Amino acid sequence: MDKESMLGIENLTKSYSGTIVLNRVSMEIKKGEIHALIGENGAGKSTLCKMIAGAVEPTEGTIVIRGTAYNRLTPKKAKEEGVTMVYQEFNLISEMTVYENLFVGKEIRKGIFTDKNKMMEMSRNIFREMGVDIDCTEKIKDISVAYCQLVEIAKALLEDSRLLILDEPTAPLTTKEIELLFRVLGKLKDRGISMIYISHRLEEIFQICDRITVLRDGNYIASLDTKGTTKEELIRLMIGRELSQEFPKRLLEAECDGTKTVLKVEGLTNGKLKNVSFELKQGEILGIAGLVGAGRTETARAIFGADTITEGEIYIKGKKVKVKSPLQAIRHGIGLIPEDRKRQGVMLWQSVSDNISLVVIQELAGRLLVNNKKEKALLDKEINMLNIKLQSVKQPVESLSGGNQQKVVLAKWLATKCDILIFDEPTRGIDVGAKKEIYDFLFRLKKEGKSVILISSEMSEILNLSDRILVMYEGRMTGELGYKDATQELVLRKASGM
Ligand SMILES: Nc1ncnc2c1ncn2[C@@H]1O[C@H](COP(=O)(O)OP(=O)(O)OP(=O)(O)O)[C@@H](O)[C@H]1O
Ligand SMILES: [Mg+2]
Repeated sequence: MDKESMLGIENLTKSYSGTIVLNRVSMEIKKGEIHALIGENGAGKSTLCKMIAGAVEPTEGTIVIRGTAYNRLTPKKAKEEGVTMVYQEFNLISEMTVYENLFVGKEIRKGIFTDKNKMMEMSRNIFREMGVDIDCTEKIKDISVAYCQLVEIAKALLEDSRLLILDEPTAPLTTKEIELLFRVLGKLKDRGISMIYISHRLEEIFQICDRITVLRDGNYIASLDTKGTTKEELIRLMIGRELSQEFPKRLLEAECDGTKTVLKVEGLTNGKLKNVSFELKQGEILGIAGLVGAGRTETARAIFGADTITEGEIYIKGKKVKVKSPLQAIRHGIGLIPEDRKRQGVMLWQSVSDNISLVVIQELAGRLLVNNKKEKALLDKEINMLNIKLQSVKQPVESLSGGNQQKVVLAKWLATKCDILIFDEPTRGIDVGAKKEIYDFLFRLKKEGKSVILISSEMSEILNLSDRILVMYEGRMTGELGYKDATQELVLRKASGM
């Protein structure tokens, strides 16, 4: 092995009760490179990284860290070898300050007391080196997700990590925060730190990664230099075929009704929303654009009865209704597919079949929905269509890959009788091939005469899928555009309050 190698993986295999999820993968991470790991949902990316971080034990194979070979690692051993994985669910203690979190378990002491000043000073130095402006005395619960992530990275630096593993780090971040994160990663790279970077957003990979390794169905496919490859080639390697045209063709206006108003909200106001009014037509896909924090999710939650409104009215098919709880919303035919699947979408500990057999929704709706055979068949169809990858429907949802968990959430709602469906960031964490399936699906709903509210931070989705686009800024509606008039620039201007 050459000197330049940070990490070598040799024939690494993982199986769960006999099913192989990673099959004799070999690859190499060089010193000071940002190495992308890409592949469809369930390809084995997270599993591979967890083995490198010592959190999952390989079934077979070797991990070589700077020349030392291991057949199994523990999280402690991996850490000692300078490997740190930054998890989505952060390991920070929310009631403690930033600097206290950096020193948990390794507090610096002066006599019998902890040396607060010294720890604060060291913390400030680390963040200065990272180029991050943060108040180290703030509590974790008061800082944004983006900063939590940076605190995790700072912690790794303090522990002198040589290899950082970032699993979909940008998923919850705003554009500005992503820029900040990338600047930080650039600085770490200059210091010779290696990084493994997992993301479904290929643009990001072209922006910051030096090399790319592609996995497909647990198999190693290729490692390439970022320079010299293209998005199309990567997609082909990931899914094993060309992806025909990303967005489905628009339906002709004649094919969908578009005249009947199914939902009307007037003057919705609460702590986050200011006088939000709009109408949703039958068979319409209504896009809501805006920056993170603009009030899109809050609008969805208010309509779904998950948040209370202090003022405003909701009309469904012309009738004024009170929606005081999700239960009432579902009874009125409104479904919300939330962005935060971990907390609201599925019951992770339950099996896939329990989740999708509408148990959750039935509980919500007080057994309003009958779980008959027809619905079950419909559900199986959705699972098939969304191409959910699982070994068995009896598997707990938490043992599915991230993207497949998201698909379970979708499948669950799709089987309901709701005819107004609100999708909040439906493709977050979803691979390119499956995204296309979800787009096709939205068009199918439309064709069936259902109405969709689509909240998305991906501009191309908003522009290519919506019939009409509403733009929000600081809790208010700042614009409405027909799909023919909408451009990225116009939407962005309105989204930043211009
Ligand atoms: N504890 C477990 N028990 C059984 N199967 C598991 C377990 N953990 C992971 N798997 C399976 O291993 C496969 C690979 O999952 P992994 O999470 O590594 O995929 P991924 O590439 O990270 O996908 P995504 O992009 O969706 O996050 C999946 O089919 C998953 O269901
Ligand atoms: Mg994953």
